Amino acid sequence: MKLRRFATQELATVYVAAMVESLITRESHPVLGLATGATPVRLYDRLVEFHQQGLSFAHVTTINLDEYVGLPATHPQSYRRFMHEHLFDRIDIPLAQTYVPDGMAINIDDECERYDAVLDTYPIDLQILGIGRNGHIGFNEPDISLKTRTHVIDLTEDTIKANARFFPDVNRVPTRAITMGIQSILQAKAIILMAFGSDKADAVRRALSGEVSTEVPASFLQMHPNVTFVLDEEAAQQLQTGQLLQASEWSRPHPW
Ligand code: F6R
Repeated sequence: MKLRRFATQELATVYVAAMVESLITRESHPVLGLATGATPVRLYDRLVEFHQQGLSFAHVTTINLDEYVGLPATHPQSYRRFMHEHLFDRIDIPLAQTYVPDGMAINIDDECERYDAVLDTYPIDLQILGIGRNGHIGFNEPDISLKTRTHVIDLTEDTIKANARFFPDVNRVPTRAITMGIQSILQAKAIILMAFGSDKADAVRRALSGEVSTEVPASFLQMHPNVTFVLDEEAAQQLQTGQLLQASEWSRPHPW
């Protein structure tokens, strides 16, 4: 487990963008696991800038974590549309190499199976994650048990409230989503979890507490051999010195 703390979100984001660049310039067929939400927006802006300076994404495959059930790809709040606006339409990645669950699939169970097959075909080299205020990753919400593979989930009230900022009102936020499961996330060769702002501080502290609990899905990341938490000062503010030291071992090099 590595922990990198930066004075600002901007600096943290440049660090992560450089990690992504390093992967895609070294690998001939890199696979990136991607997230949506507010946290990675600036990362995608930086990657677009890198692209404008010559970085090509033509050989990259991307696999997104999740999608709302019931929103078509064209809906302004769908995650497919988000990815087009913030990244895909601004770089040279062939769209056939971009995977996002289909929230409009007639048979959702089949869609989950299709997505698992995609994940089996394209093992993720680097998974980018945000974290929910309740400790969720992807849309793996706190519960008494967690699902390993791609599945449909009922979003918690906290997540619906948090995501209402992107919708005209809270009643328009979908209540279900398709999400990659915990095992699929942990199968990525390397994982970077980005968290910014004081409203993530509690979730970050609980994720790094030394205990693994289904009530804090992000805590499962402690079991992965190559995870980096990339935080700004505010998201790191509840970490104790001991926790910071323990989490900061430069234990393993990245696999690329
Ligand atoms: C989105 C996702 C979620 C978000 C999390 C944080 O694809 O997987 O787990 O990363 O809800 O969202 P923001 O970044 O909006 O605070």
